[in-house]
Amino acid sequence: MATVLITGGCGFIGSNLALAFRKQGDRVVALDNLSRRGSEILRDRVVAAGVEFVRGDIRNPADFEPVQGPFDLMIECSAEPSVLVGVNGDDAEFMVQNNLVGSLHCFEFARKKKSPVIFLSTSRVYPYDALNAREYREEATRFVPACSGPGFGPEGVGIDFPLSGARSLYGATKLASEIMLQEYSRQYGLPAIINRCGVVAGPWQLGKQDQGVFTYWLVSHLLKRPLAYIGFGGQGKQVRDLLHIDDLVDLVLLQSRQIAGFRGEIFPAGGSTFSSLSLAEATDLCRRLTGNEVPVGSQPDNRPADVRWFVTDNRPTTDRFGWRPARSAEDILRDIRDWLAGHPDLLAALFGKKP
Ligand SMILES: NC(=O)c1ccc[n+]([C@@H]2O[C@H](COP(=O)([O-])OP(=O)(O)OC[C@H]3O[C@@H](n4cnc5c(N)ncnc54)[C@H](O)[C@@H]3O)[C@@H](O)[C@H]2O)c1
Repeated sequence: MATVLITGGCGFIGSNLALAFRKQGDRVVALDNLSRRGSEILRDRVVAAGVEFVRGDIRNPADFEPVQGPFDLMIECSAEPSVLVGVNGDDAEFMVQNNLVGSLHCFEFARKKKSPVIFLSTSRVYPYDALNAREYREEATRFVPACSGPGFGPEGVGIDFPLSGARSLYGATKLASEIMLQEYSRQYGLPAIINRCGVVAGPWQLGKQDQGVFTYWLVSHLLKRPLAYIGFGGQGKQVRDLLHIDDLVDLVLLQSRQIAGFRGEIFPAGGSTFSSLSLAEATDLCRRLTGNEVPVGSQPDNRPADVRWFVTDNRPTTDRFGWRPARSAEDILRDIRDWLAGHPDLLAALFGKKP
């Protein structure tokens, strides 16, 4: 039996990982400040499965002290994950304190405890102007790449995509945390893996428009609430790849068994071309899955940090771990629908109305 400390262990990804490690018999400690809307619900869910909960804020090093004894693995999943936070300047310092300084405190605690670290990073580290400046073809329901170059092509965006340019405060803090973890790993011999995740989705994601957009899209169909395509002409042709939370959990479980030899290597983890979807295609899928049609408006102008096309090139991760996503975009949306159908009270509490 191993002991696993999960920071942000009452979030969407953290809670699903906590349950998976518990299920295989490990001791799991979830540290979370419960700042995310609905995180109390996920706390109750993990505590019911035998996860130990520590209420703490990673910005405050003293909050790690209640975590007793050594542990064998830290998974750093705590962050403010919205790309829109900080755009008006008011929250910039909060973002840096929460996502960068907070992560640094996590790595420092791991160093003292001699624990390997798996860090959940994001595809938002890639600069949006550079991504949007690539050539795309406009097809009936989506944009499609029409050029290839370093780290870019029909297979997706790879980890060798050039990193210079603005990427949002969220992306910047995550990239800076990646760099700090690599430094800690090499300087102090701390085993570490960085997963650059695309859009992760699935049951128990308490989604909102700027984070968990596909859950939000499906919920809006269930509740018959109007939606809008925002940016890139307002036709919903922008593309993302979706990774089912269970596929991400499978990857992290695999990595946890082999982490000793890693020193901060970066692994892309997304749904890839196998599970990519435009918003317009998501609308079709949601209509089929819910039987409901909602009006979808159009706002042509981009929001800050919008990206026209992002699909993850997972090949380094497949090569190293033999992992690839097994659940399609349709599987993901169907699972979210079925989960919400089984939890009408949750739907009401989180989204305001019973279907
Ligand atoms: N969900 C995605 O699509 C996605 C994609 C790429 C990367 N990620 C990364 O995965 C990680 C988890 O994301 P998620 O989707 O589970 O988000 P989430 O918001 O559901 O979970 C984050 C958790 O961290 C907690 N938290 C936030 N600030 C904290 C602090 N200062 N101290 C302690 N706890 C704090 C929140 O209360 C929440 O429970 C994040 O690091 C995010 O950057 C997520």
